[in-house]
Amino acid sequence: MCGIVGYIGLSDAQPILLSGLEKLEYRGYDSAGIAVHNGKKIDIVKSKGRLYELKKKLSSNNLKGNLGIGHTRWATHGIPSDVNSHPHTSNNCKIAVVHNGIIENYLELKKNLSQSIFSSDTDTEVIAHLINKYYVPGKIENLIDAILKVLTKINGSYALAIICEDFPDKLIGVRKDNPLVIGLGENENFIASDITAIVNYTRDVYFLDDEQIALLDSKNVTVFDKNKNVVKKDVFKVDWNVESTQKGGYDFYMLKEIFEQPKIINDFISLNLSDNNFLDKINLSNKQIKKFNRIYIVGCGTAYHAGLIGARLMERLPNVFVRAHMASEFRYSNQIIDEKTLLIAISQSGETADTLAALRIAKKNNARVLSIVNVVGSSIARESDNVIYIAAGPEIAVASTKAFSAQLMAFYVLVCNLYRSLEIISEQQFLQMQEKLRELPSLVNQILSCENEIKDKAQKYLSCKNVFYIGRSLDYFIALEGSLKLKEIAYLYSQAYAAGELKHGPIALIDDTILVIGILTQENIIEKTLSNLKECKSRSGKIFTVTSQIDNKVKNISDDVFVIPKTHEIFEPLLANIVLQLFAYYIANGLGYDIDKPRNLAKSVTVE
Ligand code: M6R
Repeated sequence: MCGIVGYIGLSDAQPILLSGLEKLEYRGYDSAGIAVHNGKKIDIVKSKGRLYELKKKLSSNNLKGNLGIGHTRWATHGIPSDVNSHPHTSNNCKIAVVHNGIIENYLELKKNLSQSIFSSDTDTEVIAHLINKYYVPGKIENLIDAILKVLTKINGSYALAIICEDFPDKLIGVRKDNPLVIGLGENENFIASDITAIVNYTRDVYFLDDEQIALLDSKNVTVFDKNKNVVKKDVFKVDWNVESTQKGGYDFYMLKEIFEQPKIINDFISLNLSDNNFLDKINLSNKQIKKFNRIYIVGCGTAYHAGLIGARLMERLPNVFVRAHMASEFRYSNQIIDEKTLLIAISQSGETADTLAALRIAKKNNARVLSIVNVVGSSIARESDNVIYIAAGPEIAVASTKAFSAQLMAFYVLVCNLYRSLEIISEQQFLQMQEKLRELPSLVNQILSCENEIKDKAQKYLSCKNVFYIGRSLDYFIALEGSLKLKEIAYLYSQAYAAGELKHGPIALIDDTILVIGILTQENIIEKTLSNLKECKSRSGKIFTVTSQIDNKVKNISDDVFVIPKTHEIFEPLLANIVLQLFAYYIANGLGYDIDKPRNLAKSVTVE
C-alpha cells in the first residue's frame, strides 16, 4: 500500500527518488522520506504529510549522493508522524531500510532486542536493527548473509530496499508477498514497488519473485534465491509510455481515466474480438470447459463488482455452479475446490493480497486459475495458469474506473465465446453480440459528451447526505459499484440495495433528505424497479434515474433522468456505470475534495 523507490547510478539520487515518489504517492500518502548515501554516511530526511512537506524540508537541505532509497507511507503500525516515516535505520545509522508490507511477529522480535534502540512504533524498524545485529562489517556477502538471516526470523509480507553505510555503491532489494521490480538502466539501476515510479528512466525490468534478493550497483544486477544461488531473470519490456502516467491536461487522473474508456474498450476489442480463437488463446478448450463443475470468481472492491456481473452471465453455462466471492471472504467459505474447479481472479493491480490468497488456496487444491489482470508481470498474473490482460494502461486514481470497464469487456468477450462454444447461442447471435460490442466505444463517447449534463445533475445534489443506489440483477451490481465510487471520493454515506430488498427494511430510511439513484437497463425487470422507485418517491425521496428505457412512466416519477444509449442489454450496465462514475466525480469535485487521493485509501492493497 506504500511505495518504494531506490536508485544507484551516476546521477544525483535525490531528484530521481522524489520524482519516483511523486508517481507513487497514489499508493500511500500520509508521510514520506528518503535516505541518500553521501559517500561516507547515510543522510535521511523524512516528513509527515504529503510529499510537498518532504520537499519543503529538502529545499533547505539537499541530500547529495548517487545511492538512495525513498518511501511514501500509508500508516499501519504507528500514527503518521516524522518518526514513524520510512526510511528506518539501525541505531548506529549504518543500515537504512524502507518497507512495504507487515511484519507480523515484530513485537516478539522486538522483545529480544534492547528497547532503548527503538525510536518508532513501526514494525519495520526491527528489520534495520536485526540486519545490523547479524551483519559482520566487511564484505558485501556479509551484508547479504545478514539480510538472509533476518528473512528467516521475520513472518509476514515485505518488499524491502536496503542500503548500508559501508557500501556507497550497493543497493539491495528483497520481497515476499509484496511486489518489487528492478529497473535496468545504463550505468544506473533502480528498485521500485511499482513500474510507474521508474518508467521515466527505463522500460527494462526484472520482476523479483518471492524470497529473491537483488544486489544492484550502477553496472550490474545480481539476483539470488534464499540459499544464495544466483537466479537467471528474464528482462521484461514495459510498454507503458510516460504520457500514460501523466494527467494530460485533466484536473485529476480519475477524470482522465474516465475519458480514456472508449479507447481502452476499443483496444480490448481490437486485441480480442478479431481473434476467432479467444478461448484457445486463454487455453480453454471445449473439453476443458465441460470438465469444470464449479466456477468461483474472486476479487475485491470494484474488481469484485465486475466479478458479480461475470458470475451472473456465466450462470447460463450448463451443469456448472458459478459464484462470485469477495476475495477477502473466500477462505472462510468452505467451498469445495478440486481439479474440476475454475477460479477466476480479477485484479487491476494483480497484487491485492486477499485475491492472491484466494488464488493460492485454489492452486493448492488443484483448481485451474484464470486471472483478469491489468498489470503485466504482477504476482496474480504470474501465479495464474492463464491470464486475460485488460490492457487498460496505468490506472493511477485510487478510484478504479477504466479498469472496471475493461474487466467487464473481458467478461463480455469471454461469455460470448463460451455461449457460442457451448451452443447456448447460435453463430448468428454470436456475430450480433460482437457487432454490439464493437459499438460500445462510440456509445461510451456519446455519454462522455454529456459530461456537463451529468455535472449539472451532480451540482443539484451536492448537499445530499445520504444516497441509495438501487437496481435488480446486473443493475444491482452497477448500483454497488456506483455507491462505492461515491463513498470513496465524495465521502458521502451511500448504500446500494437490490431494489426488491428495499421494502424488507431500508425503505424506512427514505425521506426528503435522501437521493435514490435507480439503475434501469434490464428490460424484463424494469417495471419492477420502477415500482420500487415509485415507493421511494411516495416517501418524498428524490429520484435520479439512469436508464436505457425512457418513457412517461419513468419521467413522471424521476426528479432527474439520464438516458443511456440502447444496446444489447448485457452491455448496458457498462454504459450506466459511466454515468455513475461522472456523477460521483462531480459530486466530489463540487465538494472540493482531492479526488485522486481520497482519505484513508491506497491504490493497491497488498496487506490482508
Ligand atoms: O487492484 P485490484 O483490482 O485488485 O484492487 C481491488 C480493490 O482494492 C479496488 O477495486 C478498490 O475497491 C478501488 N479503490 C475501487 O475504486
